[in-house]
Parts: sequence; C-alpha cells; structure tokens
Amino acid sequence: MTLHDMLVDEIKDLYHAEKQLTKALPKMAKAATNEDLREAFEMHLEETQEQITRLEEVFGALGEKVKAKPCAGMAGIIEEGKDTMGEDAEGAVMDAALIAAAQRAEHYEIGAYGTCVEWARLLGLDEVVSLLETTLEEEKAADKKLTALAESEINQAAVAEGESDDEEAEAPVRGNTRSRAPVARGQSSGNARTRAKAADRRRR
Ligand SMILES: [Fe+2]
Repeated sequence: MTLHDMLVDEIKDLYHAEKQLTKALPKMAKAATNEDLREAFEMHLEETQEQITRLEEVFGALGEKVKAKPCAGMAGIIEEGKDTMGEDAEGAVMDAALIAAAQRAEHYEIGAYGTCVEWARLLGLDEVVSLLETTLEEEKAADKKLTALAESEINQAAVAEGESDDEEAEAPVRGNTRSRAPVARGQSSGNARTRAKAADRRRR
C-alpha cells in the first residue's frame, strides 16, 4: 500500500464521517436552547453539505470513484453525542454539553483533514490540497466559534443555572423554623465553585 492509497482511504473515511454529521447536526440544532448555538449548528450543517461535495471533487481529482468507508471514530463521537442529548440536563447546561460533543467532532475532522492536506502536498496533488485546505479552514473556524460561544455566554449561564438550583433547594429549609438547621451558605457556594471548575475543565 502506498501513501497515495492511504490518502484515498482517509478520504473515504472522511466522506463517511461528513455524511454521518449531516444526520447528527440537525438533532443537535434541535436540542440547543441558545439561539446563537442553534444557528452555529445550522450553519455548520450547510458547510458540511458543501464539504461532502468538495470531497466528491477530491475523488474526481484522484481519479477514484466516490466511495465511503465506515468511519468508526466519528460513529463513536456521534454515539457519545446521542448519550449527551439523552442526559437529564436542560438550558445552558445542555448547551455546554452539546458544545463539548460538537468540538470532539470538529477536532477529529481537523486532525484528519490536516493529515490529508499534508500528504496531498507531499504527493504533489495541488488541486486536492486546495480543496481539502478550504474545508480544513472551515472546520477550524467552526471550532473557534464554538469556543467563543462557550466562553462568552453559555458556560457562565450553565454555572448560574447550578447556583439558582442551590437556592431553590435551600428555600424550604430556611422556611422551616421547627427543626432543621439552615444549610450553611459556604457549603452550597462551594458546590457551585466545584461545578464552575468542572465546567472550566470541560472547556479545556
Ligand atoms: Fe466537516
């Protein structure tokens, strides 16, 4: 097997990965509550459809028939995304988790396209390089946009949702004058801090 053959294989893999994403992205858009996040998923769906067309052009430039090869990596990432959507979370917490799932998909693609661009460059396949580079830049931009959405609003909103949950849980305790001692404030804000750290870790 030559590097050229290996490149063709990777393109078949990516073709299947992108096809799977066109099925997953509408579901993620539907599950998103943040308007900007939903729009980002919808926009990336349109881009993904163009990326599929671009891969078909790559097959043409390589003199190969358009063919998909089952991509277990993306299948696994999408499967995890489905699990995420089934979690008992809503609002910004779900949005934050959707971003985490989507960024896994983007990073997989960035890795795969990055390799293919480099191999095509080494093999002197200029047309293939330019097609794949266009897609690679789109994937990087989509990833950056998700990071920006998480950092600018969604992660903070997810932390705040946890804090308002704490207050709801404490309210009946405070109102009960007969027996239970009030829950110490420090305890609940400690929990909120832990969650903020966890959200922070997820973002990185
Ligand atoms: Fe893609």
